[in-house]
Amino acid sequence: MNRHYHYDVLIIGSGAAGLTLALNLARTAKVAVLSKNAVNTGSTWFAQGGIAAVLDDHDSVEAHVADTLVAGSGLCHEDAVRFTVERSKSAIKWLIEQGVDFTREQNSEDYHLTQEGGHSHRRIIHSADATGRAVHSTLIEQVQHHPSIELFEHHVALNLITQADADSRKLRATGAYALSLRDDHVHVFQAKVVVLATGGASKVYLYTSNPDSASGDGIAMAWRAGCRVANMEFNQFHPTCLYHPKAKSFLITEALRGEGALLKLPNGERFMPRFDERAELAPRDVVARAIDHEIKRLGCECVYLDISHKSEAFISEHFPTVQARCLEYGIDITRDPIPVVPAAHYTCGGVVVDHNGQTDLQNLYAIGETSFTGLHGANRMASNSLLECIVYAQSAAEHIEAKLPGIGGPKASPKWDESRVTNSDEDVVISHNWDELRRFMWDYVGIVRTHKRLERATHRIKLLQKEIAEYYSNYKVSGDLIELRNLATVAELIIRSAMERKESRGLHYSLDHPDISPIARDTILVPTNFAAQDVIVSALPE
Ligand code: FAD
Ligand code: SIN
Repeated sequence: MNRHYHYDVLIIGSGAAGLTLALNLARTAKVAVLSKNAVNTGSTWFAQGGIAAVLDDHDSVEAHVADTLVAGSGLCHEDAVRFTVERSKSAIKWLIEQGVDFTREQNSEDYHLTQEGGHSHRRIIHSADATGRAVHSTLIEQVQHHPSIELFEHHVALNLITQADADSRKLRATGAYALSLRDDHVHVFQAKVVVLATGGASKVYLYTSNPDSASGDGIAMAWRAGCRVANMEFNQFHPTCLYHPKAKSFLITEALRGEGALLKLPNGERFMPRFDERAELAPRDVVARAIDHEIKRLGCECVYLDISHKSEAFISEHFPTVQARCLEYGIDITRDPIPVVPAAHYTCGGVVVDHNGQTDLQNLYAIGETSFTGLHGANRMASNSLLECIVYAQSAAEHIEAKLPGIGGPKASPKWDESRVTNSDEDVVISHNWDELRRFMWDYVGIVRTHKRLERATHRIKLLQKEIAEYYSNYKVSGDLIELRNLATVAELIIRSAMERKESRGLHYSLDHPDISPIARDTILVPTNFAAQDVIVSALPE
């Protein structure tokens, strides 16, 4: 049966961003949270290194801001960086109040701060090497026991619902259609305010550190509903994912390099000092590109990350998760170097929002990895992402709370119409298209790009989108079909953005345009008529 639900606020996504928002709103609002799989299957759960924040007396907001701006390669919005960093201490305080158990210094009440690439200070607060699990499990526990929050697991939002506002005639978001994977029906979720907190889109690449949920659903839904999307060409490749045939998407945290691990070639030689004076602690774009270069130069399958010079006790205390996981594959990191390769890790671009997470569409917000706040510029600095999730969820909560009393209830939305579709008898089309898309994105729109490769990708994505659109209008929706359609949309947005950028900056490196342009510009894609979209490249505000 198709059901009709009503809430004050509908939050799509149950990661750090979505759950922080839910908890901050639940004092005054009735909230629904949708999660397309089990509640703990987004990227948040798998975060390792920690959360960047100004917590040490020797550190400063100025230093954290300056490091972020350098890593972002001239493209960060300084106002967004300052806004985030100034709120970092209170964001961590809030997490500690919720009960997150961060690692302390030995025999001390002080929190242990670790170091990662691009940071000039030790400023990463963490829970050993499983920070995401510590943060997420704490938030999940709170949400599950909150009387004003209803959690819908295994519900995949597939499209936003919009209506023209009675007074202003402007479009506003009033809910979403969501497929329940439990009963296979599409239900209507209506709300005064809708929030996208669906995480990133790194699954658009064949090799990724991300869990399966990272298919860019929020970005694709917002785009279809008429929101601008920015800087999609800047997909971050994490330099060190475990290279092993049986290890799917396992990250080797950057904190290993922060604590002295060295990158080596198969013959044991160090190579990072040849590429950058910051060596292993250069920003991620530099390290990933250096590894890619060495792998291609030598024709080897991977490089190695070596922390075996540290004591066994140190390794077990700081990196128990990495140690245990590597042991499962027969790698003893106290003695052996770890085989690693770069993999798609983080979506720096996303749905354009302001400091409150407000998108272009009335009553629609976007927070966390789905959003584009301007914080990350052309390359996100390590551990600034979870910070952004908490800070923007809190500011969005304040904004929504103040606005809610003035928002009238939406008109009833029509049920999802399934009368003209049938069950598919050729699901192989989905899995085939899925593989093809992720492979050509890896080959043509990866760490090093050329105009020719991007043209090839453009050609492929057009064909795929046509095929997917036909399939979508003829057959009943499924979780896989929804994801494939969204992946194709974000792939198109990434390719178009990459084609627009005629320079090499941060994570976007083109052999045809190897130099950085003197003027830093965002790539802002604007949907027009929701079908024929134009590209507008606007100058970065002073
Ligand atoms: P997520 O945590 O990804 O949650 C997204 C949620 O949306 C999920 O619940 C998913 O089910 C749901 N969803 C998606 N689509 C739909 C839909 N259509 N309908 C319903 N629900 C939907 N960052 C740091 O700052 N520090 C770190 O140490 C760090 N380590 C990382 C390690 C790994 C392995 C990875 C993958 C990322 C890491 N990151 C780290 C990045 C960081 O974890 C993410 O950017 C952050 O957790 C994103 O949080 P989020 O709430 O935006 O999204
Ligand atoms: C890591 O632990 O290396 C990931 C940190 C991040 O992505 O911010």
